[in-house]
Amino acid sequence: MTSPSRQPARRRTAVLRREAVLATVPVAVAALLAAAGPAAAGTTGGAGAGDPYFPLAGNGGYHVGHYGLTLRYDTGTRHLDGKAVLTARATQKLTRFDLDLKGLKVTSVTVDRTPATFKRGGQELVVTPRHALRAGQDFRVTVAYHGTPKPVTDPDGSADGWIPTDDGAFVAGEPQGAMTWFPANNHPKDKSAYDFTITVPKGRTAVANGVLLGQRTTGGRTTFHWRETQPMAAYLATATVGKFKVERYTTAGGIQVYNAVDAREATAAAPVLKKLPSVLAWESKLFGPYPFRAAGAIVDHAPGVGYALETQTRPVYDSAPDTSTLVHESAHQWFGDSVSLTSWKDIWLNEGFATYAEWLYSEQHGGDSAQKSFDRLYARPAGDGLWAYPPADPGSGENIFGTPVYARGAMALHELREAVGDKDFFRILRAWASAHRGGHGTTAQFERLAERTSGKQLDGLFHTWLYTQGKPGRA
Ligand code: TRP
Ligand code: ZN
Repeated sequence: MTSPSRQPARRRTAVLRREAVLATVPVAVAALLAAAGPAAAGTTGGAGAGDPYFPLAGNGGYHVGHYGLTLRYDTGTRHLDGKAVLTARATQKLTRFDLDLKGLKVTSVTVDRTPATFKRGGQELVVTPRHALRAGQDFRVTVAYHGTPKPVTDPDGSADGWIPTDDGAFVAGEPQGAMTWFPANNHPKDKSAYDFTITVPKGRTAVANGVLLGQRTTGGRTTFHWRETQPMAAYLATATVGKFKVERYTTAGGIQVYNAVDAREATAAAPVLKKLPSVLAWESKLFGPYPFRAAGAIVDHAPGVGYALETQTRPVYDSAPDTSTLVHESAHQWFGDSVSLTSWKDIWLNEGFATYAEWLYSEQHGGDSAQKSFDRLYARPAGDGLWAYPPADPGSGENIFGTPVYARGAMALHELREAVGDKDFFRILRAWASAHRGGHGTTAQFERLAERTSGKQLDGLFHTWLYTQGKPGRA
């Protein structure tokens, strides 16, 4: 079953790639920000949402309530035609605002149907509406664009965003890649509802988040209409395209399941996907009600990607997952998708929790106990990479998917469980999922909730396990 020392499919080979990162990148970003800085305080929104690890991700000055994305992808030429309609609300007076969009050619931008001027710079699409927007004003931005989308390279060297495959595209945007295929307020602070209308050559399937409202084939093309009504961070959106076998059913609990599986992965995926309803039911018992109406899996054949992503309602896998990866991505629906980050620095709230779910699954299904998983990791010497940095303070975007975040993050939860006992521990997990459902949570809020629920003072434990560099000593 789960062995914390193996490299699961979802984890990139971050350690090997780390050397390749150019030290000049943060410097260049800092310079850009310095230029954007003073103006950001005025009426121009701001080029970033204030994330220390990804300073240009997201934007200031507005909230997007809904994205309407109309896409047409030619799997032969890899050309994407897009129209994005963002329904938004200004949170301050705006004479101009930014969207995140990388690559692609923008042909027109309108704000409330009036043509707006725009310019491109790096990942920023800077829009100047004809008339300034008042604080609190609702507005609608329409962006027409096209081109050949290319993935972004993350600080740790892995690719995310729109990643072409031999029969379509693997689309996964954590942490930055949403902007490779649609203009967005690309930070998990901003969550929105989505409609996707995606046209692909007949014989290909386009799979997005939420519920499939319909599909129609005419003139050699098929259009798929997907809708996710529950608030979703841009990085969790997908529009994965391929030749897929499709399976649909509704669970006993009323969740609409849609699985799309590449034929080359079907044999390996079948026995694992069969467990999805029982995994969701088991997690619902532990974490509280499943937060969404739809579920499923997209099992692509995307060699070279090297990870899976917990795309909302319907995780996307680069190949047939094993059971613990299914458990992991499913747990993210509670921890990461429903309860979202306000800062990438808090990533252990996603990955530590999803990893701990794997340990719990193993413990309750005849495999190793969580204690055993903990002990095996704890036996690693002080110089091991596991202790290289603390989970709640990984230091930079380069480290957010490293072993200290996943494994030591899970160890921190195990220590919490040991300190408060099972009853309070699971009460804490359920309270966390329900109090922040559909919204956001921070590490500091989690700590307070754990203390309030258990009536114990836990600052020492959190300080040691979440914030202190190096291998913690035995208490
Ligand atoms: N969040 C994913 C998981 O653990 C991992 C992931 C998403 C990832 N995007 C990535 C890992 C990019 C490395 C690179 O399920
Ligand atoms: Zn994860």
